[in-house]
Amino acid sequence: MNRNVKQTQHTRNRYNTTSIIYNLMEWPVEQLWYKNWRHTLWQQVHGPKVLEIGVGTGKNISYYPDHIGITGIDLSSGMLERAKKVLAKEKKNRVTLREMDAQQMGFPDNTFDDVVATFVFCSVPDPILGLSEALRVTKPGGRLRLLEHMRADWSALASLMDRLDAPIHYLLGVHIARQTIANVKKAGWDLESVQKLSRGGIVKKIIAVKPG
Ligand SMILES: C[S@@+](CC[C@H](N)C(=O)[O-])C[C@H]1O[C@@H](n2cnc3c(N)ncnc32)[C@H](O)[C@@H]1O
Repeated sequence: MNRNVKQTQHTRNRYNTTSIIYNLMEWPVEQLWYKNWRHTLWQQVHGPKVLEIGVGTGKNISYYPDHIGITGIDLSSGMLERAKKVLAKEKKNRVTLREMDAQQMGFPDNTFDDVVATFVFCSVPDPILGLSEALRVTKPGGRLRLLEHMRADWSALASLMDRLDAPIHYLLGVHIARQTIANVKKAGWDLESVQKLSRGGIVKKIIAVKPG
């Protein structure tokens, strides 16, 4: 079996398992920081046609603006089941959720005005492939909006993260030492802005534009 297929299966399995306790695990960071960051991010999304990659358990759904059409995808059926319940409760009728791999999306080129992902490219097995696919399905001039945790800017912390990356990935399917800004550029996006949201630059908001 090819390496990417194996790693994608590993990621899917890990998220199917952790989907049961995901919201509980994330509760403290969600209350302290994430919910404010989500709120600000979604206020800047105008669409009208938007893709959310890695919707997970649907933590962004309540922040979706009512006037835009949103397609949400995720690799894990377990995570997606929870997102579907949130969607039913929130009664957002311009939203569609689909099980799909961000590394190989079933959308035509130049489909979306904005692509959004929050804490996803730490988990996508081949992040440059996923970000290139995001570029392909975005219209020229459209934007990529990310909230991501990544390798720290402080070198001592960064080398500790490098050492812990493999065991944490094995246990949870997430990489803690990704170089996400470099990956966005390698995938062909033009970087528009990078905002440090946490100490050491571990969490950043990244906005990039599709050239053209
Ligand atoms: C850390 S969770 C974040 C979920 C959600 N975006 C949030 O903010 O809570 C990462 C999500 O990315 C999804 N994911 C990982 N690799 C993916 C891929 N190749 N294609 C689509 N979704 C993927 C996982 O299944 C999981 O739901």
